[in-house]
Amino acid sequence: MVLPIFFLLLIVTQAWSVRPQQLQQQGKNIFILAGQSNIAGRGGVVNNTITGIATWDGIVPPQCSPNPSILKLSANLTWVLAQEPLHSDIDFNKINGVGPGMAFANYVLGKDPNFGIIGLVPCAIGGTKISQWEKGTFLYKQMMKRTQASVQNGGTIQALLWYQGESDTESQEDAKSYKAKLEKFFLDVRDDLQSPMLPIIQVALASGSGPFIEIVREAQMGIDLMNLRTIDAKGLPLELDNLHLTTAAQVQLGKMFADTFLKFLPSGPTVSPIRSSAPRNSSNFVVNILIAPLFLCIRMILFLTNII
Ligand SMILES: *[C@@H]1O[C@H](CO)[C@@H](O)[C@H](O)[C@H]1NC(C)=O
Ligand SMILES: *[C@@H]1O[C@H](CO)[C@@H](O)[C@H](O)[C@H]1NC(C)=O
Repeated sequence: MVLPIFFLLLIVTQAWSVRPQQLQQQGKNIFILAGQSNIAGRGGVVNNTITGIATWDGIVPPQCSPNPSILKLSANLTWVLAQEPLHSDIDFNKINGVGPGMAFANYVLGKDPNFGIIGLVPCAIGGTKISQWEKGTFLYKQMMKRTQASVQNGGTIQALLWYQGESDTESQEDAKSYKAKLEKFFLDVRDDLQSPMLPIIQVALASGSGPFIEIVREAQMGIDLMNLRTIDAKGLPLELDNLHLTTAAQVQLGKMFADTFLKFLPSGPTVSPIRSSAPRNSSNFVVNILIAPLFLCIRMILFLTNII
């Protein structure tokens, strides 16, 4: 009696502490997060109206809590327990807040508890244009270097989560050349990762730092590549700057990323076969709840009477 309780306790306590082996564990599910400020995360970042100094309010909603199964590749290329603000050591010139990454990872694990360890690779830098992500640029090389480091001890690159384009809404020229540049960027990333079908989930803009938002949105929606999915952030609540998604909006965006990613998995979320999602009709109920135990009882009685 004591032994099973001991093992149960062992399992429960182990589940809630990150062991060093877990940080090095092979077979991580790697997600690259790249783009500009809204994927780096500015949720909860507010400017002091008097001093003008930006600070993060420090509010982490439960959907973005740390989880022993969610790790991130830190700036020095080591794995650490992931926590908000996810990009603070990457987009370090800015004040970071809540982004979609933690909510995304927690939703995936909530829907699919057998998914395994998630390894987030933050790469986003605020205020960057698509031309700064072109193959050969510093940001592109950094992203590749970090991604390659993330799979050094094994692991699978599951998807690129991409949210960028606000800075390309300032000039009409940038907005008009956006589509071709974005498409080339996606193809170059897949090519260099030798993953021609790599799932990419991009976000259609909710806001922009200039007036040509609709041109960029049309460019985003107009790209037609296999395994590219577009989720739309338009209408999600924005901070007072009218540019950055609020913390609540980031939680919602994380869920949209997760729902979209889960559809890439072969059978959708891996649900336990016993707990079917099929609606429980009355005949199922009668068979499962009433008749089956009844048969079991009869068989047990027959078995016992045989012995006696
Ligand atoms: C790398 O960064 C992490 C988190 O920022 C830190 O905990 C760790 O000590 C650093 N490791 C090295 C070798 O610098
Ligand atoms: C805070 O001020 C900076 C600099 O003026 C601006 O770029 C940013 O959008 C502002 N953020 C908010 C949340 O108002």
